[in-house]
Amino acid sequence: MSDAVNITLLPGDGIGPEVIREARKIIQVVESKLDLKLNLKEMPVGGAGYEATGKPLPEETLQAAQASHAVLLGAVGGPQWENLDFSLRPERALLGLRSSLGLFANLRPAKIFQALSDASTLKPEVVAGLDILVVRELTGGIYFGEPRGVETLPDGSRRGVNTLVYTDSEIERIARVAFDVALKRNKSVFSIDKANVLECTGLWREVVTETHKEYSDINLNHMYVDNCAMQLVRNPRQFDVILTTNMFGDILSDQASMLTGSIGMLPSASIGGKTGMYEPIHGSAPDIAGQDIANPLATILSVGMMFKYSFDREDIHDAIEQVVESVLDQGYRTKDILSHGKKAVGCVEMGDLVSEELESKL
Ligand code: IPM
Ligand code: MG
Repeated sequence: MSDAVNITLLPGDGIGPEVIREARKIIQVVESKLDLKLNLKEMPVGGAGYEATGKPLPEETLQAAQASHAVLLGAVGGPQWENLDFSLRPERALLGLRSSLGLFANLRPAKIFQALSDASTLKPEVVAGLDILVVRELTGGIYFGEPRGVETLPDGSRRGVNTLVYTDSEIERIARVAFDVALKRNKSVFSIDKANVLECTGLWREVVTETHKEYSDINLNHMYVDNCAMQLVRNPRQFDVILTTNMFGDILSDQASMLTGSIGMLPSASIGGKTGMYEPIHGSAPDIAGQDIANPLATILSVGMMFKYSFDREDIHDAIEQVVESVLDQGYRTKDILSHGKKAVGCVEMGDLVSEELESKL
């Protein structure tokens, strides 16, 4: 990582710009303390992209993303764009970025910080020590399958269609990602499907089983998605790596995030192409935008993932994670994770606390 690297910042909508502003502080601390050259370029995306150019994913934004080593995204979407045609909705920008950058693997860690074990809606003894990694397939499945759309039939009635498709090579490459990351963790993978009903996920189960033959150190289990949803609230600590399809991963990762206390805490990495994309898993939260109450920690932790996965700097990732942990241990909380006796801070102050402590740590 000796040459200058280019990072595209895509603040997007709602609380996106606020959390990206705090993440920028973290990147700048890393840059100055470690004497790295990190070129940051900010571009519009989502609703902001639509307002600027008429498209949620403007051409120049996509080009900047493709030309950079990593992309850090805030969030997209808001009520003012909900009635636009499907092709113009802010969410299309995310799907466009994922597929154009070839980001087929989405890593979503749901790890509980000790200090927050009382912030979950589940009992502390059920979630204490929880450390799950959801590996979600991101460029296939029902999100991208053809045919799709809504058609009007000759009798005037309408028919909506989406298609769940996976090829064996798409399944094999995401299974390898899950097995490879599991090797560095507790060596357990649960592959989640609906093989009792959907042929496509029957193939998923078959290919995952076949690929597993090359990973004899890994303990592989298969589970139906409905059972997994239940087990995640019954006994979440049985899970280490969860490997699953695009749509099941979308749903299960939101569920897993709440086990950690707040969806405002979870970062994510989308990898598989030459540019990685990093984003908090929470959305744009338009109801709290502009009030300095958003939790910037998921985006700050996403910066950590960026250093780990795009720049091979696990040390920086670990330092950021440790500083976040320490700030939480000192009792600082944004509103979403606030509990009795803790010190309430806003988005900006939380970003300052983390960046100041990181500055003295690096
Ligand atoms: C996510 C989001 C997106 C998805 C939406 C905003 C398109 O829910 O990243 O989980 O469904 O993938
Ligand atoms: Mg989602």
